[in-house]
Amino acid sequence: KNEISIGLLGLGTVGSGVAKIIQQHQQDLHHKLGAQVLIGKVLVRDTNKDRLSSLDPSVFTTDIEEILNDSSLDIIVEVMGGIDGAKLAIEKALRAGKQVVTANKDVMAEYGHDLLKLADAEKCDLFYEASVAGGVPIIRTLEDGLASDRISSLMGIVNGTTNFILTKMKKENMSYDDALAEATELGYAEADPSADVDGIDAARKMVILSSLAFSTEVHLDDVLVRGMKEIRDGDLELATKFGYTMKMVGSSTKDEDGIEVSVEPIFLANSHPLASVNNEFNAVYIYGDAVGETMLYGPGAGSLPTATSVVSDIIAACRNLQLGVNGKRAHSAQHERVIKPETK
Ligand code: NDP
Ligand code: HSE
Repeated sequence: KNEISIGLLGLGTVGSGVAKIIQQHQQDLHHKLGAQVLIGKVLVRDTNKDRLSSLDPSVFTTDIEEILNDSSLDIIVEVMGGIDGAKLAIEKALRAGKQVVTANKDVMAEYGHDLLKLADAEKCDLFYEASVAGGVPIIRTLEDGLASDRISSLMGIVNGTTNFILTKMKKENMSYDDALAEATELGYAEADPSADVDGIDAARKMVILSSLAFSTEVHLDDVLVRGMKEIRDGDLELATKFGYTMKMVGSSTKDEDGIEVSVEPIFLANSHPLASVNNEFNAVYIYGDAVGETMLYGPGAGSLPTATSVVSDIIAACRNLQLGVNGKRAHSAQHERVIKPETK
């Protein structure tokens, strides 16, 4: 193919970053793929909104079916958010034989296992690198880079908004409300930021990471989730006084009894590498039998960092299209016992 055409569902924080990278890196993409990558159609809610985008107005639509039924589109990129509508769109695109890329951790945490099986059955791919830790290639690392190892645990800061809030409160004495407003303004927070501050967004990401790390099906109900409300007045100062830093940390461990997954605010010693991960940055520590310890670190939210992962997935999808293969596999090969940790 000389041209690969994208149907972009959403042109908000992430979608506009995707459009910008595709337009600005056009020559590099052509060089890497031997084909031109074009944005054929874009779904938005409001076509009259002012947008900092040089896309031709004719590509915009508010009708999702117009995109899903368009046989000229090769890849559907879901960056609209929400659960039910996004899941239906992904299913429909896969059933129509399209390659699909999504940044949607809500859908992947809840329905990822089924959608990956559907993609396998339809001989398509479903890529979701941006669903965890924005610009950090953690999914590929677990799927490919560390595929040879036996992972025993993961520990990470996987929500940019709460890390941004805790950093601003600690370092700039900012109030919780002001820090959350700034995180929202910068495009880090979810449409409903309670998902961030209540720990649900991080729990969803830990579901995705744990399923990949342990080749099994972990579900949101299995995760112990404690949000920022558990942080009491004075906790941040107390932490500082004794050489600790308060962080929202996701943890996933596997031993002979089974797998345990949690997300909660904890006191981390300042000497711990995760204690110095600040602002919207994320980091994931991985412990493997053979590799020992390894850590990935980088921007966990925001337009261009997240779009970098989405466009890398688009490149992977294009390569598979060009080769006529599909390469992703559902990650439910084994069935491990998952134990919900005790609430303290
Ligand atoms: P935004 O709210 O900024 O953008 C959503 C876009 O989708 C908008 O362009 C909106 O249209 C469009 N849209 C949403 N629902 C509909 C609908 N029903 N019909 C038509 N258009 C619709 O979200 P984000 O870009 O922040 O997030 C998108 C996805 O990426 C989410 O799943 C999010 O969790 C995930 N994500 C976000 C990150 C971030 O840093 N923001 C990082 C990693 C993942 P309109 O512009 O007209 O309102
Ligand atoms: N709201 C999410 C966060 C976006 O703050 O981490 C990135 O997934």
